[in-house]
Amino acid sequence: MSKPILPTNDLCYGGDWNPDQWPESTVDEDIQLMKEAGVNFVSLAIFSWAKLEPEPGKYDFAWLREIMDKCHDAGIYVDLATGTASPPVWMWRNDPASLPVNQSGVRLGFGSRQQYCPASRTYAKKSKELARALAEEFKDHPALVMWHVNNEYACHVQSCYCDVCEADFQEWLRQRYDSIEDLNDAWNTHFWAQKYSDFAEIALPRVMPTIPNSAQTLDYARFFDSQLLKLFLGEADQLREVTPDIPVTTNFMGEFMALDYHEWAKHVDVVSDDSYPDPAIPGAAHEVAFTADLMRSLKGGQPFLLMEQVTSAVQWRPQNSAKRPGQFELWSTQRVAHGADGIAQFQWRQSPGGAEMFHGGMYNHAGKQSRWWPEVVQMGKALQNLAPVVGGRIDAKVAIVIDWDSARAQYFASGPNNDVPLGFHAARAWHRTFWEKNIATDLVGINDDLDEYGIIIVPELFIDYPEFSSRLQEAAASGAQVVVTAPSGVVNPTLRAVLGGYLGSLSELLGIIVTDHHLHAPAASSWNKPDQCKVDPRVDRITRAVRTPGSVEYHDVDMRAPVLERALDQIASPRPQARGGVWGEYVMATKEASEVTDALWLNDEVEVVAQFGHESDLGGWPAITRRREGSGAAWYVATDLDAVGRDAMVRVLGALARLDMSGSTLPDGIERVKRGVVTFYMNHSDKAIQLAGITGYDLISQADATGHAVIAPRSSMAIVER
Ligand code: GLA
Ligand code: ZN
Repeated sequence: MSKPILPTNDLCYGGDWNPDQWPESTVDEDIQLMKEAGVNFVSLAIFSWAKLEPEPGKYDFAWLREIMDKCHDAGIYVDLATGTASPPVWMWRNDPASLPVNQSGVRLGFGSRQQYCPASRTYAKKSKELARALAEEFKDHPALVMWHVNNEYACHVQSCYCDVCEADFQEWLRQRYDSIEDLNDAWNTHFWAQKYSDFAEIALPRVMPTIPNSAQTLDYARFFDSQLLKLFLGEADQLREVTPDIPVTTNFMGEFMALDYHEWAKHVDVVSDDSYPDPAIPGAAHEVAFTADLMRSLKGGQPFLLMEQVTSAVQWRPQNSAKRPGQFELWSTQRVAHGADGIAQFQWRQSPGGAEMFHGGMYNHAGKQSRWWPEVVQMGKALQNLAPVVGGRIDAKVAIVIDWDSARAQYFASGPNNDVPLGFHAARAWHRTFWEKNIATDLVGINDDLDEYGIIIVPELFIDYPEFSSRLQEAAASGAQVVVTAPSGVVNPTLRAVLGGYLGSLSELLGIIVTDHHLHAPAASSWNKPDQCKVDPRVDRITRAVRTPGSVEYHDVDMRAPVLERALDQIASPRPQARGGVWGEYVMATKEASEVTDALWLNDEVEVVAQFGHESDLGGWPAITRRREGSGAAWYVATDLDAVGRDAMVRVLGALARLDMSGSTLPDGIERVKRGVVTFYMNHSDKAIQLAGITGYDLISQADATGHAVIAPRSSMAIVER
């Protein structure tokens, strides 16, 4: 069990506070306002380096101490930043090479933020020294509850192509590969005459004539990630030496791909997250849940902290939609329900100028007259009432596997589908299906424990991991339903193709191999000659007879197993058609059938539970297979299955794994999550919704629930037993 963040055992509430960007007179006013709003937690000094160290080596901490003292007097705890996300102008003036270089070789300028090369020795030294000095200064301060190292590593700068980075990259490769021959094999440099005879010959993947060696690109991404982790550890080590009992964090950014948060999470004491779903998209409510589940899962279910969100609207999208009334509290409660032990905002007081002047704060330009102030105050009250949830865990029986390296490998590989964005899109899609049915899910990594799960979804695990495959096999043998989706097991960790049939080490469990990928994408007219994409059916006598693979933009997936047909019938009548997207493939059994008894069995072990529809060139080929393993089973989905198909599968999987499916029949818009002793009901809809059978005590309204409960639009209840 981890320790609660605040010694009071309350949920944290507050945000980034930048009093140093304001006249001194606002400090007392801010603290007074914070008390009105129920703020008990602030992050200080995140962008204060220039004020903390006005000249190299000359520290000025007096102003900060004064503010921290005032925080302490007011019962406000401090998450103290090391301030290293934006080095002062003197660093660049003294050492121009401390600025990063972009892929075309241009050195970036001063005047924004995050302007440092991750290999800069000056930056590393100065940031470490500042962290140390702050730790020495504030080690005994009673307000200090957490260290906040840097800010959003890699948020803006995700590469640096300077000479120092190049030399460090060569060194990193020397550590990673036993010899240069090893690297040549791993990267398959025999192709296009890229062979190296010495590590010193290897360059960073700069702008190149055409497609780069994708293994080099992938290794560079890993290297850059490790450079930043090293910087983080450089500071964290200093802090931990001086204040071993103060937890250290750095704020993550949810589904952010430049940093492998599975690795990073090992090195932070508390996972904290910055999350800005776009209220303009209907999937935003799901993004809140997905990101929160991801953050909670990074440290095996340990509560995380929402370090940043906006009360109202951000300023950095092309158009910045505001949240709907109540949505700030609704999404905050949702994070708490999914495992957050605190809700903090960027930022306390809206900036009077600069890049983020129109980014909403808790206390905005119009002061208390702002339309958001009452919601800010209301939120503070709600969080105070929700204290019984602190430390509470979520009992998920479903695991969805995510892997940063696999997602990156899929993205950097040249083909088969270059239109896939970098991210966990397949994991997100499957998570959404479970979430729509109010089924709790964890998002686990390939090294996490799988014992507790009745269902394990392995969506698009592009890299073949033999050890993980055997752990999946054990899980299936002891009863789990394992679902692997395409494309999986396609390359090894250095981006070399799996030979002899894709799926590699997963073949044994699934009983099949994939012989070929078969996409049928619609023609992109931007890539092809636009006039060649058009057909005038009145006159183009030959062309009008041609059928392209993408003339239908999906593969029909015909469910064959009666359980899946029944599941479709439960969704709608007439029975809806499940489909796959552009991805399809040819699946073959690894073993011959001893005797063919049924066309829907590939052999004695592997059942074809769905086939591709006959509109497609894959017509009749297996779209979904199942092989029993011990008391569980291993399913393979050979396409990017649509929401209907996933829904049908989840109904069947849920029944097999004996999940509680009752949440899927709640009225539209109602999300239900059980965390610890609290059951949350959140109404995402525009209507007041009446729920029957709710008894206990509602922490949010501080009233008994005696059977029927009405939840107002975009608001929540949090029920505990009486
Ligand atoms: C990030 C940063 C903050 C602020 C917000 C604005 O999350 O950490 O400093 O710039 O974005 O949304
Ligand atoms: Zn560099």
